[in-house]
Amino acid sequence: MYELDKDFLWGVATSASQIEGAWDVDGKGMSIADCLRYRPEIDVKNYKKVNEVDSEEINLAIKDKKNQNWAKRYGVDFYHYYKEDIKQLAEMGIKAFRFSIGWTRIFPNGIEESPNQKGLDFYLNVVKELKKYQIEPIVTLSHYDMPLYLVLNYDAWYDKQVITYYEKFATTVIDYLSNYVKFWIPFNEIDSIVRHPFASAGLVEDRFPELNFKEVVYQSMHHQFIASSLVVKYCHENYPEMQVGSMITKTTVYPYDSNPENVLQSLKQMREVYAFSDIQIRGFYPEYLMKAFRKQNIHLSISKEEEELLLENTADFIAFSYYSSVCTAVETEGLKVSLANTTSGVYNRFLEQTEWGWQIDPTGIRISLIELSDRYSKPLFIVENGLGAADELTQTNEVHDDYRIDYLKQHIQQVLIAVEEDGVDLLGYCTWGAMDMISASTNQMSKRYGFIYVDLDDFGNGTFNRYKKDSYFWYQKLMRFDNKIPKSFF
Ligand code: BG6
Repeated sequence: MYELDKDFLWGVATSASQIEGAWDVDGKGMSIADCLRYRPEIDVKNYKKVNEVDSEEINLAIKDKKNQNWAKRYGVDFYHYYKEDIKQLAEMGIKAFRFSIGWTRIFPNGIEESPNQKGLDFYLNVVKELKKYQIEPIVTLSHYDMPLYLVLNYDAWYDKQVITYYEKFATTVIDYLSNYVKFWIPFNEIDSIVRHPFASAGLVEDRFPELNFKEVVYQSMHHQFIASSLVVKYCHENYPEMQVGSMITKTTVYPYDSNPENVLQSLKQMREVYAFSDIQIRGFYPEYLMKAFRKQNIHLSISKEEEELLLENTADFIAFSYYSSVCTAVETEGLKVSLANTTSGVYNRFLEQTEWGWQIDPTGIRISLIELSDRYSKPLFIVENGLGAADELTQTNEVHDDYRIDYLKQHIQQVLIAVEEDGVDLLGYCTWGAMDMISASTNQMSKRYGFIYVDLDDFGNGTFNRYKKDSYFWYQKLMRFDNKIPKSFF
């Protein structure tokens, strides 16, 4: 029997731009997510290309109000289906629901004096609905959807003024939902700015012709760290019961073999992953990162006050997403390439891979838990883990996703072992996702992660009807054990 704390939060995770739809309803402004479309002509495994957005593409997005390819404008219409969706998830037995706040629902252009009441009320209704079923809301404040206005008029996160606008957005939402929400995550995968600067932080390379774009990205990263610390400060000062998390994409990079050169290279790459949580948990920039910046001629402007703010307002827990691992080698000639979450590496011959080429590594989630726990001695929270697959709906409206059940079973068992044997302090575990939703990286609907199938295709055609998959009933069984899970379940 695996035994967990009675407060352990089993849940599911989503984000506003991937589920809500209703992109121009009730006063919502245009966000960067509304400028991302599914482009069938581009190979979805080519992340760089898929995520490349230039000023021309943004102009097209502004003009084109009809084309269904702007998938995140329509999502799966959670905006109108939220009661039905939450009811189905409650019946599955979840104890936590992770979702994000659409910044442009609250401040349509980001700069308004007062918030849009209809936007605030939508989220209040969502949290009230969750509480009706005793479900704990886990709220991400910014998950890839900043106001487009701030991109076009303020140079997005490169502009310090945006910190102030974000702070106003964040504190408005925190105050409004303070009676209902305890767990806050200021930024989804704060490290992702390096991999997709537009989708994460609204940075469009052609808008900075005179500057070193890498420096622009890292300066913007610094501004997000400051913004995040301001959220920690605000919560700690005003609502001591709240907990604020740093959230990273936990990529695991193994050495391809025991050649010490490859081991060293994997260590270096892991430092790139940890740099972000190091700053948010320890409160200062690690020397290895500062040295790397100097080597690349990147000079960040960081004031004394900002250094103090970072140091005094570190995160309470480490939230992370985990999907897969990759290998690395100094000499890659002749080695097969494999993909992971918006990144790639050397293929690991011991692992299988998903239809989208991500390698499946359940032991990697346990390794991640041990590494993070040993590095920070702080509570951890797995806020995303799941399998993207092209599910098929049968004639009788069923989805036999035994491959998803296998994936989750193997990963969850490793999580339970990490808690039981390795002594990891874990607050909860959320699958990505809940119902199917639009893929963050490829903007496809057909890359499905949910327990509930949504009838929609990559071009926005479909009924939006929801159907429970086999995995829904499997997760429901797990929930019913009430944190005392028999080993035979695996
Ligand atoms: C995480 C993101 O990196 O991965 C989610 O936080 C995303 O927004 C998830 O959906 C899965 O990635 P994708 O690209 O397959 O949707």
